[in-house]
Amino acid sequence: MSDLTNLVQSRHSAIKFMSDTPISPAELNEIFELVKLAPSAFNLQHAHYVPVTDESVREQIYQASGGQYKIKLASAVIAVFGDTKAYSRIAEMNEGFLALGMMDRTEFDTTVRDVTEFYERRGAEFQREEAVRNASLSAMMFMLLAKDKGWDTCPMIGFDPQAVAEAVGAPEGMLPVMLITIGKEDRSKPRPRGYRKPVAQFVSYDRF
Ligand SMILES: Cc1cc2nc3c(=O)[nH]c(=O)nc-3n(C[C@H](O)[C@H](O)[C@H](O)COP(=O)(O)O)c2cc1C
Repeated sequence: MSDLTNLVQSRHSAIKFMSDTPISPAELNEIFELVKLAPSAFNLQHAHYVPVTDESVREQIYQASGGQYKIKLASAVIAVFGDTKAYSRIAEMNEGFLALGMMDRTEFDTTVRDVTEFYERRGAEFQREEAVRNASLSAMMFMLLAKDKGWDTCPMIGFDPQAVAEAVGAPEGMLPVMLITIGKEDRSKPRPRGYRKPVAQFVSYDRF
């Protein structure tokens, strides 16, 4: 069996973490260096991560989550945001290609114009969907990479988005997508593997 198959089978959402198990910014950055490689629409890289290390900020996130205790026990809680205005940085994302001659000036200008129009024409709801879609793909990669490096995670949606955004000073346009707690699972309290639908119930070839 491949390493990836093993990894996917061994990842699960931790219910409880071991307390007093610090994770360093260096260890987190090792994961983020690989998370960079996640796909994103037009390579806009909508995801933004805020690992919370400050105890008073962690307390605010804990309150914003309605007191989910794993936030206190985890080695870190990470707020994952999606940038609804990521498309406004399309030029920046392509400057490297232009400088290297992998894109000429006309292609560059056309890309900037087309991508800007693509998002502006579809409007605010689409920009929010894109933020959630792209940040979620990135967050899944984060959780698999964390597992690969020996860390357990739990994605979390139970929180007040406004309170989370305020706790970490999120700028306008940054949408809270999920929290991820990361740490070492307390193996005396594992989460049993939940029921999974058979393939035929979630895959419909050609038509529903
Ligand atoms: C978007 C999302 C939000 C979740 N929110 C929570 C949460 O707030 N608290 C929690 O304990 N688990 C949360 N989970 C974990 C799910 O309950 C878990 O993924 C599911 O039961 C399947 O279990 P597994 O991840 O162990 O395979 C969330 C998962 C996802 C993908």
